[in-house]
Amino acid sequence: MGASRIVILTGAGVSAESGLGTFRDVGGLWDQYDLDEVATPEGYGRNPALVLDFYNARRANCRKAAPNPAHAAIARLQRQHRGRVTLVTQNIDDLHERADSPEVIHMHGRLLRALCAACGHQWGWAGDMGLGDHCPSCASVGTVRPDVVWFGEMPYQMEAIWARIEDCDLFVAIGTSGAVYPAAGFVADARDRGARTLEINLEPSDNASLFDQRLLGPAGETVPVWVEGMLGGGE
Ligand code: OAD
Repeated sequence: MGASRIVILTGAGVSAESGLGTFRDVGGLWDQYDLDEVATPEGYGRNPALVLDFYNARRANCRKAAPNPAHAAIARLQRQHRGRVTLVTQNIDDLHERADSPEVIHMHGRLLRALCAACGHQWGWAGDMGLGDHCPSCASVGTVRPDVVWFGEMPYQMEAIWARIEDCDLFVAIGTSGAVYPAAGFVADARDRGARTLEINLEPSDNASLFDQRLLGPAGETVPVWVEGMLGGGE
């Protein structure tokens, strides 16, 4: 059975084979860093230098990484599928863009953008970020932060995402543990609206029981096979 309106949700697992660490796997980022200190507004308030350094390291790793076959296959599906393919990512890297995805919704923000905590201005940012940087709009110093969504903050573009989920006939989660809401709730929303659900992951996720189908294995191998099937008329 084909699908005409697909929503794909990606997580850190889709970038794992590009060399970017996941969060919750053994040895992942949340084993190495205290989430409360580096990924919350309160942590930033306590020690902004620590938080900026954490994201400077993420940005440096991202620069060294290249898209893998999973990113390329998703971009191919977006370009070649006869129906609509909406790509929502929790990732803050730019690997979907570098794989030529025509449209990417970054619900957790982007590493390569800056946000002024004083005036809300957002702009592109390529290098390291430091406490002495200033906002080009309001000129404040010490208020420049990565334009990423921290725990306790509202993810971006939620209304647009929910509109696509309510209107999809296939929901696919790739490389995400299903541990962080609201993204972890998308599969239930899609199911409630009658969509079929597919999980593509290394291992069953936290909400595995909500998926109709599962493809287990490294995304760089499983996603190209799934996309080939979709474009070839099967699944
Ligand atoms: P997690 O680290 O929680 O989960 C990554 C998932 O990818 C796990 O289920 C792994 O089994 C799977 N995985 C690992 N390697 C894989 C591979 N090569 N191929 C396929 N799957 C693989 O990452 P996310 O679910 O993305 O938020 O985490 C969600 C959010 O929690 C992140 O956006 C971030 C984090 O804290 C914020 O920082 C706000």
